Amino acid sequence: MRLTFGLFDSGVGGFTVLMQVLRRYPLSSCLYLADTARVPYGDKGINEIREIALEVTHWLRGQNVSFVLVGCNTTNSLALDIVQREAGVPVVSLISSAAEMITKRRVGVLATPATALSGAYKSEIELSSSDKIVFEQSCPAFVPMIEDGKIDSVELRRVAIKYLSPLLEARVEEVVLGCTHYPLLEPLLRELLPQEIRIIDPAVGLADKLDKFLGPPVWRFNRRYSLASTRFCVTKDPLNFAARANDWLGECPEVELVSLQQRSCFF
Ligand code: DGL
Repeated sequence: MRLTFGLFDSGVGGFTVLMQVLRRYPLSSCLYLADTARVPYGDKGINEIREIALEVTHWLRGQNVSFVLVGCNTTNSLALDIVQREAGVPVVSLISSAAEMITKRRVGVLATPATALSGAYKSEIELSSSDKIVFEQSCPAFVPMIEDGKIDSVELRRVAIKYLSPLLEARVEEVVLGCTHYPLLEPLLRELLPQEIRIIDPAVGLADKLDKFLGPPVWRFNRRYSLASTRFCVTKDPLNFAARANDWLGECPEVELVSLQQRSCFF
């Protein structure tokens, strides 16, 4: 029997995780939930992020998924304990996957304001190896601009230069894309960063860990995949989301509008 995994994010950021998984497991079956009614998560306070995580996890649990991929670093930073406690199935964390990918000493992390403030990347990376020095950079403008499709704008380039400059001053050797939306900016970030600075996408490490659920990957660098076995659900504006999927994933899927408001009490 084919297992269906749950993957959630506030919006299109989870696409970057989905792409990594489908490249390795083109036949896997996914339930992708985008909480588009509440994107962005990254400028919300901790209590709200934890309440949302509870609601999302209860909804996913009701869909009988076999395991959950946390496609959102902000939730991962501030509410992983809730997702793990409430999911009723195994949960795979992005941040611990990223920490395992670090090879250099001076590490920069680009993240949402909530993730940067939480210090979750810093603690996880320093825990894995105490000689690491981590510099976290909050990037509040990125997610709204990506969700609005303003990828090629002069304004995006301007803010990217602003966010990278403290990391360059800190002489980082690796830069972690600590928000799943950011790999969508990788061509721009690659252009702005010196070649010797490695860019790390945590979704690569996460997808490499899935053999225990999905068996051996078909082909790690497969570029072709289909969305036929992915069910997309959103909390607002399904047509806009389908258009974004077409932009980023090359297919315009059917997208269901769902309500997450079901039995979920604060903890
Ligand atoms: N893509 C998510 C993350 O990795 C959420 C970004 C947001 O909604 O602010 O943090």
